[in-house]
Amino acid sequence: MSSAHASPSALDVLLSRASTDHLSAPAPDKAQIARILSAGLRAPDHGKIRPWRYIVIKGKHRVEFAEQVIKAMISADPKVPEKKIAKRRQRFSEMPMTIGLVMALDPESKIPLQEQELSVGAGVMNVLNALHMEGFGGFWVSSDFAGQPCFREALGLTDSQRLAGFLFVGTPDKPVQGSKRPDIEDYMGFYKGEPVKFGADQ
Ligand SMILES: Cc1cc2nc3c(=O)[nH]c(=O)nc-3n(C[C@H](O)[C@H](O)[C@H](O)COP(=O)(O)O)c2cc1C
Repeated sequence: MSSAHASPSALDVLLSRASTDHLSAPAPDKAQIARILSAGLRAPDHGKIRPWRYIVIKGKHRVEFAEQVIKAMISADPKVPEKKIAKRRQRFSEMPMTIGLVMALDPESKIPLQEQELSVGAGVMNVLNALHMEGFGGFWVSSDFAGQPCFREALGLTDSQRLAGFLFVGTPDKPVQGSKRPDIEDYMGFYKGEPVKFGADQ
């Protein structure tokens, strides 16, 4: 912050974001989540592919969604440990809101799939930042089971759509400290006519 009395700048807010899965109600309401997800649509998007789709799961539908998750987990691995099932059931049915992060890719486009996927990732980052700016918290988790046909069908995913994971969303139970971040000096370098070496790689 530039002075002791100044309100935090947008960059100060970005620099204070951290993930948390210690989340309680309230989740954003309908108008709030539409506005927050609109930040996702600000992601750079080569070729106007618009590869982002957001599936919002909230309220009573969380429990039925959790059952689809369990079904997919068992379909992926019939020997999946009961403990893992119980944890996923609890998280997907109790998180105030879950957002399915769909990558709606266009394999026919001249824009490489990697660029389309990066656009989805950029959108998710904007959503995490927007949640933080509005006083909410978020946590991005993987979706290793989501390729299962039963799950794809339950969500209505088309052949060219894949999940980039899920966002758990709600209000942080306590102020989020987050982990200590590495020193930026180790992750940036200036090109001076020679190959750039990074402290992080030494
Ligand atoms: C695509 C993606 C998938 C992730 N999946 C998981 C996950 O399944 N479980 C987990 O504990 N963290 C997962 N993470 C990491 C967390 O979302 C989070 O970034 C991490 O805990 C560090 O917190 P930070 O965002 O404050 O740095 C994932 C991150 C990304 C980008």
